[in-house]
Amino acid sequence: MELMDLLRTRRTYRRFEQREIDRSVIDEILLAARYASSAANRQPLSYIVINTREKTDLVFEQTRWAGYLPPEQGQPRENERPTLFIAVIQNTDINPDCDTDAGLAISNMTLAAWNHGVGSCIIGACNRDKLSELFGLTETQKLHTVIAFGYPSHTSRIADVTDPAEIKYYLDDARNYVVPKRTINDIVRYL
Ligand SMILES: Cc1cc2nc3c(=O)[nH]c(=O)nc-3n(C[C@H](O)[C@H](O)[C@H](O)COP(=O)(O)O)c2cc1C
Repeated sequence: MELMDLLRTRRTYRRFEQREIDRSVIDEILLAARYASSAANRQPLSYIVINTREKTDLVFEQTRWAGYLPPEQGQPRENERPTLFIAVIQNTDINPDCDTDAGLAISNMTLAAWNHGVGSCIIGACNRDKLSELFGLTETQKLHTVIAFGYPSHTSRIADVTDPAEIKYYLDDARNYVVPKRTINDIVRYL
């Protein structure tokens, strides 16, 4: 896909086909994380891959989806769940302050996935205590986010924000996501 099309269509996806993601695609997603820039090149991030149904279910139970929507609309149903999670771990002994590193790595991973038609949802709203225990994190390791992946069973498109207060995503009549983005004129100023 052409780069700008990849960026425009790499949206958040929250319902997925129940089809496994090939190991070669998972490997490429992880390689994309490895390619990301890192402050002072300290590389404090590591990753945990969860790709068996038994374990993705355990992770899924600790995640919350689509806070702007009622759960019956936003929460994936049993047969719509992601087939892969990748947890982003901050190794605080290497660098305790690595939010930007994490953002760059997450961006690379979700784009590499979408290049293969694999959609994603970055999950910040999760039970970090329970997931840290499940992942067996050490005292110096902190769970940054988990990213859910899968082949989407819906579409998602960008719409222009017209009222500055109306930024909530919503579902259209076909249950596809619409994501309002502020227009270029609203967010850019040349000095
Ligand atoms: C740091 C971060 C945390 C997020 N956490 C969640 C989450 O917990 N649950 C969820 O359903 N979506 C989550 N999202 C997805 C956002 O809701 C989504 O990016 C936003 O609505 C814009 O949609 P878009 O990604 O298609 O542009 C998160 C996104 C980011 C960047």
